[in-house]
This record gives sequence, C-alpha cells and structure tokens, in this order.
Amino acid sequence: MRMHTTIPFAVPSIGAAEESAVLRVLRSGWLTTGKETLSFEKEFKAVFEDPSLHAIAVSSASAGLHIALKACGVGPGDTVIVPSYTFTSTAAAAHFLGAQAVFVDCTPGTFHIDPVKVEETVDRLLQGYCAYGWRGGFGPKGKPKVLIPVHYGGVCCDMPALIAIAQQYGLKIIEDSAHAFPARVSPGIWAGTYGDIGVFSFYATKTITTGEGGIILCRDGHLAESMSRIRSHGIDRAVWNRYTDVQASWYYEVVEAGYKYNLPDILAALGRVQLSRAFELLEKRRAIAARYTEAFRAHPLVTIPRDSVENAWHLYPLYVHSHRDVWISLLKSKGIGVSVHFIPLHTMPYYKTFCAFLDSDFPHAYENFTHELSLPLWPDMSEEQVSQVIAAVNELT
Ligand SMILES: Cc1ncc(COP(=O)(O)O)c(C=O)c1O
Repeated sequence: MRMHTTIPFAVPSIGAAEESAVLRVLRSGWLTTGKETLSFEKEFKAVFEDPSLHAIAVSSASAGLHIALKACGVGPGDTVIVPSYTFTSTAAAAHFLGAQAVFVDCTPGTFHIDPVKVEETVDRLLQGYCAYGWRGGFGPKGKPKVLIPVHYGGVCCDMPALIAIAQQYGLKIIEDSAHAFPARVSPGIWAGTYGDIGVFSFYATKTITTGEGGIILCRDGHLAESMSRIRSHGIDRAVWNRYTDVQASWYYEVVEAGYKYNLPDILAALGRVQLSRAFELLEKRRAIAARYTEAFRAHPLVTIPRDSVENAWHLYPLYVHSHRDVWISLLKSKGIGVSVHFIPLHTMPYYKTFCAFLDSDFPHAYENFTHELSLPLWPDMSEEQVSQVIAAVNELT
C-alpha cells in the first residue's frame, strides 16, 4: 500500500536568511518600530515603481483596514460596501467605527464582488431603498462612503468597472489586497495601487509573511500622514524620531485618539527578506498551481480557478460539483490539509444581529461557499507532495 505523508494546508518558506535577519534585530538593542520598518516600507513601495506611493507598515491587514477607513472619515451612521464573500476583517473594520457594512454578492462564476450589484446597491441606498438582504424599508440609507473590493485568492477584481462606479458616485476605494501581493489588475497596474488605498497582509499563510503584519499603500500625502499618525497613538511625530533624532526630545503631542498598530523591527526584518524573495516564492506557487491546473483541467467534477500570469496564487480554489464536505473529510483522511474560503459574512451570527439575511440574498456567494475547497499551495511543497494531492483529488467521485 502506498504510504501517505501529511500535507499541511500552508507552510511559510523560512530559511537561513530570515533567521539571521531576525537574530540581527534581536541583538541590535532596538526591537520595536525603527530602521528595519522604515527600510521595509521603502523597499515594499519600490516594487511598484511609482514614486508617488506612500507605504505604512502595520501590525496586520485588519489594523490597516481599520485605520484606512478612519482616515477616509468613516464614522457612526456611514455605510461601507463590501463583498459578503470575504473574511470578517473586511467588514469588521467598518463596525469598529460605528459604521454599517453593506454586503454585495459575487459576479456569477467568480469569487469576486459584482460591479453590477455594487452599482445597484449604491443606487438603492441613494434612493432610500433597502440594500440587498434588508427588508421592509429597514436598514442603512444614504450615500455609502467607501467600497472595499477584495482581490480574492490573489486574482484582481474587475477594477476598471469598480473605479468607474466609485468616480461616478464619489466613493473612496480601499482595496483589500490581503491575498494579492504581487498581483496585477493588468500589465503594469498592481493590485493595491488602483484605488485610493491598498491594504496587504503578511499573516503566516500569505504570499510573503512577517508572522503577523501588513502594509498600507496610498498616493494621497494627507491620507498617508493621517494613517501613519492613527497607527501610532495619534502622536504628531514618529516614535522612532522621538527617541533617536539628533534633536531627540521627550516632547510630543497627541492630536487624536490613535491606536497602537505599528509593525516592530523584528517582524519587519523578516518581511524584508521575504520581500526580496517575493518573485521567487511567486514562481514556486505558480509552478504548483500550473501542475494542479494541468491535472484537473479535464476533471468532470471540478472547475479550476482562473489562470492568469497576474495571479499572486495565494489560494488554489477548486469549485467542486460534488459533495464538497465529503471531499474535505476524504482528503483529510488521506492526510491532506484543505480549507474553505470563505464562509460568507451574511451567514455569520454577528452580522445577522443587524438583519436576518437569507442565503438567497447573496446566492452566488452562498453557492461558492457550498462548493469551494482550497488545496494546499505553499512554495516549498515537494513534487511528491503535489502529486499526492493530485492523486487524492483524482480518486474522489
Ligand atoms: C480577504 C482578507 N482580508 C483581510 C484579512 C486580514 O488579514 P490579517 O490577518 O493580516 O489581519 C484576511 C486574512 O486572512 C483576508 O483573508
């Protein structure tokens, strides 16, 4: 009988360079946000070859989304448009600020927010009608302030269509690019740089990682200044400067109630090495995805993800035309770690406290949820491990 080894869903690619970078910081006497974080910000934005970009390193993409919405002026009574098909951070950020997340369904046949439904939702809110799911004249009204598209799995949303809607109705766009580094909307146009603000995640399973962490990109200097201040207690000067400037001073002023969302140097050092390997890691992910695609192209029971050279390949989502939950159990019994992205937010108890959403309100998101299965996809998977996943999927009926 063939022996199976256990294959985790995701394993970060950490080598000697990452280890020595972290050790260097541990031995440096400066552990919190400082030189490494500043260099990480500089090196990250350099990838995009756009000198007008500002980069702000944060403790997570969740934190980044929170301060991005705050800097856009979102507050109590406001509405923010998000897909139902996403992780809770995308919508929770609005609720932290007393605003209401308004859900929109996916474009049929994709995992992405539907621009047609976005426009319908904006129209409905403007005209005083209910957004999808809200009934009987009940629910948020008025012009939404921000739209947060999610570049699911590393594939970009239909940004040209979304930008056109945002321009027409005067909405800001914050791109949830947690999955999308490095990914492009089209050649030369990077995910996270198309809208007003882009937020990236460096969580342990992401395409590059700092364990926990994230970065915000934007071109507007005022927004960048505001986000950088909110990130660090609402203090009017960087902590780094406060302790180390030639004119070092104990004096500072708190100009607003900010958070402590900074990225420490230990993590930034790890991020700098990962960043230097970003395209090597992407190539490895791409090669694994290509093997899956080749193996499953003709499979009668699955639809393979959209193939594109612009994909960051954070996920390899299969759409299963069979009993998805049974497949998960069988793959698990064969030692294969799989996951589901996502359980739509309209099904979550917290968001249901605002409105008794029905699955039929967001039919495509719900359909995706009941059929999607994410296969293991991490840079250091061996050829044998990839073959094992392929063989296991091919045995399923
Ligand atoms: C779409 C999406 N947005 C935001 C986040 C939050 O990222 P972080 O864990 O860095 O806060 C995640 C996390 O997985 C995510 O999947």
